[in-house]
Amino acid sequence: MLADIASTMLDLANNSVRAKATSLRIRLVEEEDKNRFLLWIKDNGQGMDRKLLEKVQSPFFTTRTTRKIGLGIPFAKELAQLCEGRFCLKSKPGQGTLIAIEMKADHWDRPPLGDVGEALSTLIQSAPEVEIRFGAKKNQKRFTLNTTKLKELLDGVRLDSPDVILWIKDYVRQELTKIEMR
Ligand SMILES: Nc1ncnc2c1ncn2[C@@H]1O[C@H](COP(=O)(O)OP(=O)(O)OP(=O)(O)O)[C@@H](O)[C@H]1O
Ligand SMILES: [Mg+2]
Repeated sequence: MLADIASTMLDLANNSVRAKATSLRIRLVEEEDKNRFLLWIKDNGQGMDRKLLEKVQSPFFTTRTTRKIGLGIPFAKELAQLCEGRFCLKSKPGQGTLIAIEMKADHWDRPPLGDVGEALSTLIQSAPEVEIRFGAKKNQKRFTLNTTKLKELLDGVRLDSPDVILWIKDYVRQELTKIEMR
């Protein structure tokens, strides 16, 4: 079974958080004229050296001790290939990691978008101290969310308080509907 795009996004973002990123940029871009759908994540975490970079692209490797098989990165790579797109993984130790999954937007195997509001609010709740800059673009329409700006607006109310997390979830869902990303 294929995970939807929102779950894949959350999986990869969790990798960044585990790699001690303090800043995380996530983009979803759909361009109908180019028949392209892109999931892009860039972090400033601990990064990977060349050897690890090679290893992590094989499905039987993980540095986690709680689970035996890491499916995150190999799955992302497979997804891009399956959907006749491209996969990009760049990383430098001490600097950070960039991962991009491009898919043919109308490809039969392209997973549904899933619940991006749920994924983002879950991510923010689990890592409220990380600066998360999210951007979605569908054709010419955009939506962005920046947790640093949000914190300023909240004026002392915690970003991970239940009310705020709920609000973020609904807000993201609404705004993505407005730009017709689904
Ligand atoms: N953004 C990242 N920054 C630094 N290292 C990373 C990053 N993403 C992945 N890694 C390294 O690659 C390994 C494999 O990642 P992958 O997502 O495939 O599996 P996992 O995270 O170990 O397990 P799972 O995703 O099933 O929880 C990680 O254990 C980690 O060592
Ligand atoms: Mg992972």
